[in-house]
Amino acid sequence: MMEPRENIYIENIKLESGGEGVVILDQSLLPTETKHILIKTPEEMHEAIKYLRVRGAPAIGIFAAYCMYVRAKQAKPTDGTLPYEVFLRELRDFGTYLKGSRPTAVNLSWAVNRMLAVAEEAVDATCLSSLKREAASIHEEDMAMCKSISQHGLELLKDGDGILTHCNAGPLATSKYGTALGPILLGKERGVKFKVFADETRPLLQGARLTTYELQRAGVDVTLICDNMASAVMKAGWVQACLVGCDRIAANGDTANKIGTSGVAVLAKHYGIPFYVLGPTSTIDLSCPTGKEIPIELRSQQEIKEKFYEKPSALPEVKCYNPSFDVTDNELITAIITEHGICRPPFEVSLREAKEE
Ligand code: MRU
Repeated sequence: MMEPRENIYIENIKLESGGEGVVILDQSLLPTETKHILIKTPEEMHEAIKYLRVRGAPAIGIFAAYCMYVRAKQAKPTDGTLPYEVFLRELRDFGTYLKGSRPTAVNLSWAVNRMLAVAEEAVDATCLSSLKREAASIHEEDMAMCKSISQHGLELLKDGDGILTHCNAGPLATSKYGTALGPILLGKERGVKFKVFADETRPLLQGARLTTYELQRAGVDVTLICDNMASAVMKAGWVQACLVGCDRIAANGDTANKIGTSGVAVLAKHYGIPFYVLGPTSTIDLSCPTGKEIPIELRSQQEIKEKFYEKPSALPEVKCYNPSFDVTDNELITAIITEHGICRPPFEVSLREAKEE
């Protein structure tokens, strides 16, 4: 058995010292292989997001911000021969290309747009240093937001509570504490104990591979269950709260998160268990009125039929439907916890207030 390492912080994204690339912990290889890789070219950046080497809505945003800086550095000749407008056009095109890698998590386009706004405001001579500073700010802000979300989330829980979580919304998906795992990890630091049930999260097993990895190494009591066991665990009375992350929250509170999340919410309602969504305000998209407008990424059928199996689990000709996310209706959500506090229904009002703070 892996010994708890009592280590909460996992360095998952870092700008390479010379600014020539971004170093990431390749999450697609965890938990059996811990490998950092250097990402340099636009194609590698796009692939790293698409292939989930870097994943989790806030982490994708942080990575995208550093990629924008690296790309700007590559596109800008030091002799000042490239007109600023031409450089800006290249950066915008790259931003559009990067945004196309995964459509659901709004943090990706949020971070790209924030970097573009800085480039558009800046002047030629100071553009690169402004972009570097902005990417670092996005990263630092995320750490502070995760801490704040964790504190607010912890207020909703009691020592000894059983918690069910789906997918992975911990340090790997963000920076430092994470969102949905934040209250659990902060609680651990403060001597508050929880018993966590981690859904394995088919098809890519983020719960099995990443959530249990993070909690085990932090010394948290975690039990891995298959997705179809959540009802039995809730019925047994072992779950006092569900905590999940989010990829995009519509203005009315409908929330897109990893496929299977809405099923957990339906079960939680059935058993009278509070269902909490935790995420930064950068995940709230007021331009999406409801969940119906949130684009849902469809992924390769190979993820269902072959990945993580020694032999294929289905005949090659079998038809597959593999949406990466689903939307949980706002009436199934007890509260949405952001860095500014706890938003309760009506979400149209509370989310707008949180966003404006
Ligand atoms: O496909 P993934 O692994 O990127 O999906 C991640 C999730 O659904 C997370 O819950 C969400 O991004 C929030 S991470 C703090």
